[in-house]
Amino acid sequence: MINRYTDLIDQTFYFPQEGFELRKDQLCFHNIPIKRLIDIYGTPFRLTYLPKIGRQIRKARNLFNKSFKELSYSGQYYYSYCTKSNHFHYVLNEVLKEGVHIETSSSFDIDLVQSLRQKEQIHLNKIIINNGYKTDAYLKKIADLIDGDFKNVIPVLDNKTELPKLLDFVQKDAFNIGIRVATEEEPKFEFYTSRLGIRRAEILEYCKQEVATNKRLRLKMLHFFVDTGIKDTIYYWSELKRAIKLYCEIKKICPDLKAINIGGGMPIRHSLDFDYDYAYMIKQIVEQVKSACDEDGIPHPDIFTEFGKFTVAESEAMIYQVLSQKLQNDSELWYMINGSLMNDLPDTWGMGQRFILLPVNHWNKEYRRVNIGGITCDNADYYNSEAHNSQLYLPLVGSNEHGELNEPLYLGFFHTGAYQSALSGYGGIKHCLIPSPKHVLVDIDEDGQLKHWLRSEEQSPEQMLDVLGY
Ligand SMILES: Cc1ncc(COP(=O)(O)O)c(C=O)c1O
Repeated sequence: MINRYTDLIDQTFYFPQEGFELRKDQLCFHNIPIKRLIDIYGTPFRLTYLPKIGRQIRKARNLFNKSFKELSYSGQYYYSYCTKSNHFHYVLNEVLKEGVHIETSSSFDIDLVQSLRQKEQIHLNKIIINNGYKTDAYLKKIADLIDGDFKNVIPVLDNKTELPKLLDFVQKDAFNIGIRVATEEEPKFEFYTSRLGIRRAEILEYCKQEVATNKRLRLKMLHFFVDTGIKDTIYYWSELKRAIKLYCEIKKICPDLKAINIGGGMPIRHSLDFDYDYAYMIKQIVEQVKSACDEDGIPHPDIFTEFGKFTVAESEAMIYQVLSQKLQNDSELWYMINGSLMNDLPDTWGMGQRFILLPVNHWNKEYRRVNIGGITCDNADYYNSEAHNSQLYLPLVGSNEHGELNEPLYLGFFHTGAYQSALSGYGGIKHCLIPSPKHVLVDIDEDGQLKHWLRSEEQSPEQMLDVLGY
């Protein structure tokens, strides 16, 4: 009896599961037969399934609205999209179709918003939340937004230095602002308090002295963000509770305050054994906000989220071919792929991030422990564990004496749609001059059929040498 890869998956996880199934021994991702795309486009490629983006937005929105109803919560829910998780136009196109609001992080992000405005792809009543450290260039562009056609711009103060400049740059008599409170970091982190936001101990006094007394300012939003994510831990709940308490205190001084923004951090599936109860967590959040406000006699605030990875990560995958295998000692077998993990999925290298990794074909073959080697000459360009397992198993395909596989084996890293292309500088200079892979988009047409097209070719030598000044 052979131990087939398909048996290993069956014994370890519930499979098939949302987004993943097997058809004729080959993997489908969101119903897309990946092998068919491989036959058409060749590997390596980035793959984005556009409908998943809207589905995620509708999922969170439904859960918040359902919780509001069940708990008789009187505020509104606002889904805003954190552009930095994936800035590409095709993503903004999808999220804006769902009527979401936008959160920006830097000066160029405002150019992105203005570009959408010029193309009339964003409504002027959308709420534009400006987060991040504000350079003068960023502040001036925010001021232009406020003084321009957009009706709901909310710069969130990250540092006290931003306010006097904003008051100087904005021409309008009165405008909205938000304040970000610095959260305490998780106990095991290197720092006690986040560098992002204003110290909690100073905020009340600051609001009294600088905000409540200034007739030009309407403080609309208290922002807080637990960087390690929305998790069912004492740490998360206590940070949330402290933020709501602070909201109630500020509301007594600045009655325009109407919203609490809990930022991003909604988790996504990094493993097939992911077990997270979105409905429970969202209901708990709403319940905590409600009960703290009820206790204090404060009206329920509107709740904003800025989900980045939750919106985009599960829509994307990176598909590679195993070029050859190398047995470097009696036990260490390497699968050398036609791409670079450091370049394409930099979080795997920078922070040890694991993604769902599955073979596209050969599920009926025997499996064995392997290491995956990227094509750069960098020692660190490898991948050899999973979120649920410190070892990595993949189908074993026979090879000739030089290590060339007898049959092609294709691999997919899934749920890679957040942060990876920005951090890797998609289309820029790449480690060892390995090009950015081509990019295939998949959507559903009016008849419910899959349609796909090449959004961008693999980066050419000319493009890279041009950036390098040759
Ligand atoms: C202020 C703010 N909002 C939202 C996000 C999005 O976080 P995530 O992608 O975890 O949802 C981030 C990420 O760093 C952030 O800094």
